[in-house]
Amino acid sequence: MHMNTPLPSTASLIAQLRQICGAANVLTHDDPGADLSPWEQDWRKRVRGKALAVVRPGSTPEVAAVVKACAAAHTPIVPQGGNTGLVVGGVPDDSGTQIVLSMTRMNAVRAIDPANLTITVEAGCVLQNLQAAAEGAGFLFPLSLGAEGSCTIGGNLGTNAGGTQVVRYGNTRELCLGLEVVTALGEVWNGLTGLRKDNTGYDLRNLMIGSEGTLGIICAATMKLYPLPAAQLTAWAAVPSMQAAVDLLGLAHQRLGPGLTGFEVMNQFALGLVDKHYPQLRVPLWQGTPWCVLLENSDSENEAHARAQFEALLEAALEAGFVSDAVVAENLTQARGLWHIRESITLAQAAEGLNIKHDISIPVSRIPAFVAETDALLAREVPGVRMVDFGHLGDGNLHYNVQAPEGVDGQVFLRENEERVNTLVFDQVLKFDGSISAEHGVGELKVGKLPDYKDPTALAMMRAVKQALDPQNLLNPGRVLTRP
Ligand code: FAD
Ligand code: MLT
Ligand code: ZN
Repeated sequence: MHMNTPLPSTASLIAQLRQICGAANVLTHDDPGADLSPWEQDWRKRVRGKALAVVRPGSTPEVAAVVKACAAAHTPIVPQGGNTGLVVGGVPDDSGTQIVLSMTRMNAVRAIDPANLTITVEAGCVLQNLQAAAEGAGFLFPLSLGAEGSCTIGGNLGTNAGGTQVVRYGNTRELCLGLEVVTALGEVWNGLTGLRKDNTGYDLRNLMIGSEGTLGIICAATMKLYPLPAAQLTAWAAVPSMQAAVDLLGLAHQRLGPGLTGFEVMNQFALGLVDKHYPQLRVPLWQGTPWCVLLENSDSENEAHARAQFEALLEAALEAGFVSDAVVAENLTQARGLWHIRESITLAQAAEGLNIKHDISIPVSRIPAFVAETDALLAREVPGVRMVDFGHLGDGNLHYNVQAPEGVDGQVFLRENEERVNTLVFDQVLKFDGSISAEHGVGELKVGKLPDYKDPTALAMMRAVKQALDPQNLLNPGRVLTRP
């Protein structure tokens, strides 16, 4: 835009957006009875923003037109999918000047190519619906996480989500072959190839994935499909220590090979919270052991083969002292029940009150020492804290969460301790060669800390990329990178 061109007024921008998307798909606080809180409040209720408008486009050309209109009006855009993100990345700030671009109307499954083992879906497709579409066509789409009933594939790509199958299938990035993206200039990049090999220059797809809505709007994606396993078995094991859990992981890799599709660890306090808030779930084996592990074995032969392999693994683990007790689910219902317990930790923790959430990765071999040392440090520095420790041990990814001491209000605890606790934990992460975000991303919650823990040259390259692709800093400003 030329320097002297007057900016369109807010009213004329809203009118333009209504023309592009249809009046019913542009919501503002001035609408009678308007309640924008579902788009303005983050899942953990850490932040309540205020949107200029919530805009819900129905197609990629509409997204492009919305971005162009916002660019002309210098109006920032916050892309949003299911709003299940855990780092305050998908809600507007409280200025009332940002629009939320909600992608949930764009939820179609565009195509399935069985021979190419791919599925092409729009960004607003809910993960569970994508899994179901794949299964309906006789395939597995392996991305799986507790929020799968409401998170979207666009959000999964935006955050490069992990979840519980990463040990076998990788993060969302590894499941993606192509993207359709609207750039910060309102141009459409048609990169929806289903190609597994393409060495024609910079990898823009992987740049977009995990960029948390700061580099482009993901409108559609071509994702990988896999054969459905012939059998899937789930076991729940009590383990005497974190070192034993790591030893069990090594044994499981050795015995199950690519059949090992899940390996989750949970400490006694995390399971105690599930037992306290959801007693009907009947958590097994948790009272007499510091840690439990949930393992999944996916087999390409049959159930008998899977069971024999699994039982042999557990026997060897019992003999070696890596496991003190174990149960193998007898059927799918029992298996789902065990997974449901694991997936309920986040909700149980939220029910207990606000907590300081950490989503860290450490080389698996160093996790036992990290936990022992950091637990001791925290106990000394912030007496009485309760550690809710669980996560994807198979990926070296722990949710190393710090809950207020018994009886202390979560808000007060966070106000007084969050900064100190974060510094203490992140310094330990650095010491153990880890990352301060394994899967949830940086968002707003960690943006201030990133410069202290990210390689300065990497950070400078990130800033250069942002400047080149979004010179007006319109897309999700202040997330991932602090404002220039
Ligand atoms: P949103 O929350 O709406 O947005 C997340 C980020 O992506 C924002 O920065 C947003 O701007 C950006 N974004 C959204 N859509 C687009 C788009 N179309 N184009 C560009 N950018 C976009 N995460 C894990 O990784 N592993 C887990 O195991 C896991 N378990 C969870 C369990 C629970 C109970 C909950 C509540 C959350 C969990 N999460 C987990 C976090 C969250 O579900 C994921 O980050 C998920 O990928 C977010 O998807 P969403 O559609 O809700 O995105
Ligand atoms: C999980 O693994 O359950 C999620 O990442 C959510 C959380 O950290 O609470
Ligand atoms: Zn997780």
